[in-house]
Amino acid sequence: MIEIFSAADLPRAKASGRFIATVLQGVQDRVKVGTNLLEIDQWAREMITDAGARSSYVDYDPSFGDGPFGHYICTSVNDAVLHGMPYDYALKNGDLLTLDLAASLQGIVTDAAISFIVGESPNPSDLRMIETTQRALEAGIAAATPGARIGDISHAVGSVLTAAGFLINTDFGGHGVGSTMHQDPHISNNGRPGRGYKLRPGLLLAIEPWVMADTAELITDPDGWTLRSATGARTAHSEHTIAITDDGPVILTS
Ligand code: MF3
Ligand code: CO
Repeated sequence: MIEIFSAADLPRAKASGRFIATVLQGVQDRVKVGTNLLEIDQWAREMITDAGARSSYVDYDPSFGDGPFGHYICTSVNDAVLHGMPYDYALKNGDLLTLDLAASLQGIVTDAAISFIVGESPNPSDLRMIETTQRALEAGIAAATPGARIGDISHAVGSVLTAAGFLINTDFGGHGVGSTMHQDPHISNNGRPGRGYKLRPGLLLAIEPWVMADTAELITDPDGWTLRSATGARTAHSEHTIAITDDGPVILTS
């Protein structure tokens, strides 16, 4: 399903996006060496409840996961890149943490992810990997103008990742959002320009480049959800939800 919203819905979409951005920033500010992933999940649960928002994760039960997710935020550490299920783990200095959050506020889901280093003296190759996903995200957003096609976003994202020397996994990528989290169109993190669904005002899209340092192959953790690099290499992920408007793309989750 593809949902198209009216200009009158934009304030609700912006409120939802601002909420997600505020939670992610709030969690990043509070995380320090020793923070437990389960504490982060509690913080997210409290902030979602206090705002009157609805978690898109806790009851989520798609084909690619094992049973309802049962948590409020994804916490992917080091070799974990997507769908990281919070567990009893205290973060260490230098851990590369990705937070990914989607929730519905005022009836609209927005979805965003950030990667950052916990503690001090980050590894330069981690910073480069994170910065590459941010640049790929910016390029994807810039390509998301009305009249352009999904393939233009995929191509823009993929070009940045490839130029930086990364292999690209196309099993998981961006997606439409709306009243639910995962909608059509799917947005591969690599693709050919000029192909696919034509972007029009009112479309809400989550664009989400992610990479693993030396592989494109994922393995699923025994928890049935967390996706890790097959080689154990470190990983990064950046995601925003945007609205396509007559005036171009508007980032909702910043
Ligand atoms: N928000 C993730 C995405 O970017 C999906 C997480 S699904 C979960 O599309 F259930 F693992 F949380
Ligand atoms: Co997403």
